[in-house]
Amino acid sequence: MLEYLIILIIFLYFYIKRLNKACQEKKKILNILITSDIHLSFENVEKLRKWAKKNNKKFDLILNPGDFCNLDENQVYKNDTGYQALLDRLRTISKNILYIPGNHDTKMLYDSIPQDLENPDEWEPLPVMVSTNSVNNIHDRNIHNKFVQIHEKNLFVAGFGGSIDAYLYDNKEKVEWPGFPYTDEQYGKGLGHLMEAWDRIKKNNNDSLILLTHIGPAWISTTSKNCKPYNDNEKIQSGSESAYELMRSYKYQELKKPLLWIHGHTHAGKGLTDFGSIPILNPGGLCYGQFSILSLKYTDDNEWKIENIEFHNI
Ligand SMILES: [Fe+2]
Repeated sequence: MLEYLIILIIFLYFYIKRLNKACQEKKKILNILITSDIHLSFENVEKLRKWAKKNNKKFDLILNPGDFCNLDENQVYKNDTGYQALLDRLRTISKNILYIPGNHDTKMLYDSIPQDLENPDEWEPLPVMVSTNSVNNIHDRNIHNKFVQIHEKNLFVAGFGGSIDAYLYDNKEKVEWPGFPYTDEQYGKGLGHLMEAWDRIKKNNNDSLILLTHIGPAWISTTSKNCKPYNDNEKIQSGSESAYELMRSYKYQELKKPLLWIHGHTHAGKGLTDFGSIPILNPGGLCYGQFSILSLKYTDDNEWKIENIEFHNI
């Protein structure tokens, strides 16, 4: 009898040890769903929920870089709640959602916009909010002009929403998609202010940042819209030149480099590219059934690495 008891205790000891190890390993991997530019496609959010269930996909977190809705330049000034209905649906896929507004979302999602001032040129960004959480208790939150620490191993997400005008590559005067709520100069001021907070937050080499913006930097493939068949005269520039100038600096290319920069807005720019040493991801528009899955791993070298990025189309 005693022998059986000893064998049982030994078995339980190793079983619990193995379970603990598996649990620890699991905590070092984050599976993140990236949905952008839903544009009120409740249908595609439901398709995505069914796809995730069918393929047994579980996500620690959803990142959403804006354009939940379809509001035009006048409607954005209204207190529209369409984005909340979409958040309710996204919550059926993961309860943790970090999001920012796009140019087609209500102005209520911004902490301040230049248009609220008598002289918009005098606009200054508000102080950047920083909060600390574990990935398990984020729930859903708007992170425009904010930093959130999502993992005890110093992994942060910072958000900056909104867009600027998109124009023809060959003719800056020809605005193709009106932006909201920034000019390029204001956008650079806002993003620069956010990144200054990262200068203060990042203390060690291993502190890692995922930058979540609605638009990306100018002059890269994920912010260009080419027409088919290709025509130089119709190529659209939807990225920000001031963001490009800011992030091409040695500081953000090397010393304070984000682990990954995720943006949406340019549906036709879906893909993964490099802006110097910063990887840039545009998941495409969920309004067209496109989304991405990002796996991050905290390695034995004590640093966050991109384990995998998948593109899907439902
Ligand atoms: Fe947009």
